[in-house]
Amino acid sequence: MEHKGFTINASISCWIFFVMTLCTSRGDIGYSIPEEMRRGSVIGNIAKDLGLDVKKLSDRNVRLDADRTSRGFCDINLKTGDLIVAERIDREELCASRVSCPLKYELILETPLEMHRIVIQIEDINDNSPRFTNDRIELEIIESALKGARFLLDEAHDPDIGKNAVETYALQNNDHFVLIVNTNADGGKYAELILEKELDREQQQEITLLLTASDGGTPQRSGTAVIHVTVLDVNDNIPVFSQAVYKVNLPENSPLDFVVVTVSASDADEGPNGEVTYDFGRVSDKVMRLFTVNKKTGDIKTIGNIDFEEESYYEMQILAKDGSGLATNSKIVIEITDVNDNTPVIFLKSLNNPIPENAPSGTDVGIINVQDNDSGENQNIRCSIKHNVPFKLVPSIKNYYSLVTTSELDREVVTDYNITITATDEGSPPLSSSKTIQLSVSDVNDNSPVFDKQSYSAQVTENNKPGSSICSVTARDPDWRQNGTVFYSLLPIQKLQSPRCSQRQWFASPQQQRDCERPHNRPE
Ligand SMILES: *[C@@H]1O[C@H](CO)[C@@H](O)[C@H](O)[C@H]1NC(C)=O
Ligand SMILES: *[C@@H]1O[C@H](CO)[C@@H](O)[C@H](O)[C@H]1NC(C)=O
Repeated sequence: MEHKGFTINASISCWIFFVMTLCTSRGDIGYSIPEEMRRGSVIGNIAKDLGLDVKKLSDRNVRLDADRTSRGFCDINLKTGDLIVAERIDREELCASRVSCPLKYELILETPLEMHRIVIQIEDINDNSPRFTNDRIELEIIESALKGARFLLDEAHDPDIGKNAVETYALQNNDHFVLIVNTNADGGKYAELILEKELDREQQQEITLLLTASDGGTPQRSGTAVIHVTVLDVNDNIPVFSQAVYKVNLPENSPLDFVVVTVSASDADEGPNGEVTYDFGRVSDKVMRLFTVNKKTGDIKTIGNIDFEEESYYEMQILAKDGSGLATNSKIVIEITDVNDNTPVIFLKSLNNPIPENAPSGTDVGIINVQDNDSGENQNIRCSIKHNVPFKLVPSIKNYYSLVTTSELDREVVTDYNITITATDEGSPPLSSSKTIQLSVSDVNDNSPVFDKQSYSAQVTENNKPGSSICSVTARDPDWRQNGTVFYSLLPIQKLQSPRCSQRQWFASPQQQRDCERPHNRPE
């Protein structure tokens, strides 16, 4: 670059002179100034430094030649011989990151021709702050990232050089990350984020950190960027049920599609990792026939007829699975409550049929048993008998009754009884059933035959033929069959001379009859 300066026009003239005539060169002079000096600032006095006469400067037509890059920044005050700043000098614009930043001039004087090289080193001042290309650094870090994982951060730039360039980085205090600062091959500084404490998306999904880049100048300058960390989900949570056991009571005979209970499990993960579906775990075939689970909603519904009398308790395992198959389980306990849906049933365990009519009041006739498949109050039974029969039920051991007579019976009045027993449970509404027992009364020979009339009188003509009918007598006995069959016989009259006159007697004469009909049977 330095040699390029000599190719420009102003220098060519000197070059020609140098070759053609004798171009006097009296050596170089160097200055060093900071960039950004005010216009008019004095860099140095050339007249003094080169030993020239100030008064002759304008006579000798002094001038400052320069290459294109250096031109215009400096000038000479002809009155004082001062080399002054003519224009703002920005080192960064002139030399960027080059360490050496010289402005090169040739001081030409005429008569005699004289040339001096002037080199002005522009020194860096810390007039730029470090800057990040993007003031927001986006990072996506998976929550399973291990401690010590490194994440390269964008480098900050400071156009200044040396100590005035980026020297260090600092990270806002936080729980998870620390910073290390490295040096590039070209000497630039860059930072890496180191995971110090592992992340948990379920606890903190986003982390925002302030990153500061500072230079080493005085005063120090700095620039910031915001690091935005998005923590990406890993399926590290299993679904969790809202209850360890779901306990419900379900009335029997509940309709189909009835929602018995709704289970719910939550999974802290995101997206499919957190989507929970439900299913039965190990359950009996019976449960499968009666209940179903909605995979999405967790509704447990009935799909069969629930009968308390068949089963009053169901237990089932329920699973909750997330999108990648992580599962957990819980228990559902369904207690079926009884509904009064069974009518009492009456069983006749034994019956003494027929019962003799002379059975004393209180005689056991039979044993009745009642049963109801419901439970609790629905199973409590009261038994009764319709009132118009001479029987009652006497409670015996649980649900057993004795059927007993409440008075003496008389077959000749009532031969058959239809005993209607009604059993009613205590359910609400109550259910009842009845049973009719047919009971016959068997005969006992408790009636004597009775003649139609107390006495029969008949007239008989004399000389009648033997075997001709004199009169007919009829006696009736209401007893049954043999016990009611009447046999007739004539008894000798003496036999009738008993203290009492028998009803069955056959009077031999009207006198005898009269005697007998008299009170106390006393003869006149
Ligand atoms: C008893 O019931 C039977 C059959 O229902 C009937 O034939 C009979 O006459 C009834 N007897 C009485 C005494 O009601
Ligand atoms: C007649 O009465 C007797 C008891 O007095 C009884 O043992 C018998 O069975 C009865 N006969 C009939 C046919 O009812």
